[in-house]
Amino acid sequence: MQSSVKQKLLEAFSQADGDFVSGQVLAEIVGCSRTAVWKHIETLRNEGFQLEAVRKKGYRILTKPDKVTENEVLIGLQTNWLGKEIVYKETIDSTQKEALRLAQEDFKEGTVVIAEEQTAGRGRMTRVWHSPKHTGIWMSVILKPPLPPYKAPQFTLITAVAVVEAIMEVTGLTPEIKWPNDILINGKKVTGILTELQADADQIHSLIIGIGINVNQKHFPEELEEVATSLALETGETVSRSRLIQEILKNMEACYDIYMEQGFADIKKLWEKYAISVGKQITATTISATIKGKALGITEEGVLKLLDEEGTIHDIYSADIEINKAAD
Ligand code: BTN
Repeated sequence: MQSSVKQKLLEAFSQADGDFVSGQVLAEIVGCSRTAVWKHIETLRNEGFQLEAVRKKGYRILTKPDKVTENEVLIGLQTNWLGKEIVYKETIDSTQKEALRLAQEDFKEGTVVIAEEQTAGRGRMTRVWHSPKHTGIWMSVILKPPLPPYKAPQFTLITAVAVVEAIMEVTGLTPEIKWPNDILINGKKVTGILTELQADADQIHSLIIGIGINVNQKHFPEELEEVATSLALETGETVSRSRLIQEILKNMEACYDIYMEQGFADIKKLWEKYAISVGKQITATTISATIKGKALGITEEGVLKLLDEEGTIHDIYSADIEINKAAD
């Protein structure tokens, strides 16, 4: 089935909100015969959708599988441009690599790569990102903002705000952001964001925003146990991954549009509202130094301002942050 046909069918079911849609209406929406509609319905069933067919009423969706396939995400997706093209892979080395390849092949802005499993998931600073099957969200979003490269870090912060609000909406939990890209719940990491940039001196060509979320893991490898958590461990319930992806894409699109129209000020306020580190005593480990001091906040460019004990203010562009125990 072509992705545009799937998208139209799934949108029709989404708008019907659990009610029947007649074969004739579906045929008109998709622009094919009723027999062809029936074949498309069979394809959806093979992908794990439960669809009821009743004579003279048509078809309706009963349940969706907890998958993160293209169809799962498209049905009920409330965006105008973000995630309208989804590339789904059962297994992949890294969605970042695939998204970069697609961006270079001229795939549109807003294309999203999602994998059920990554065999070589990448974190910041060449770390490995643990990405097992059936439990998490491993996805990369292609953005092509017509902006200079120094604006790129702002997109990590835009994404962090979008993810925090999506987690709040779907689970009722209250996550916090640790600059620049970690999202924590009760002090443990639940999400990492990795922004990779392709640009020349004046203009971004593409930004690949990688988002890794621990959703339904019940346990972690020993080395992560102390530092990582999942949404299921925090809520005691299984969380729908496709619903969470939909919410993230909706929020990301809204934040992106606000940012392009009005600049960074509103996003900055939201980011600071959710940030754990602002106003705290922290230790920042950069590639060249370790600096202790008070995190004052972020600049318009997403740079962290750190006031050290001698009264000097440092601009931190990239670092690992620890919040000191004796915080004031
Ligand atoms: C970090 O906190 O170090 C960033 C982790 C980013 C992980 C995501 S999972 C989807 C995408 N593909 C990758 O290989 N990495 C990012």
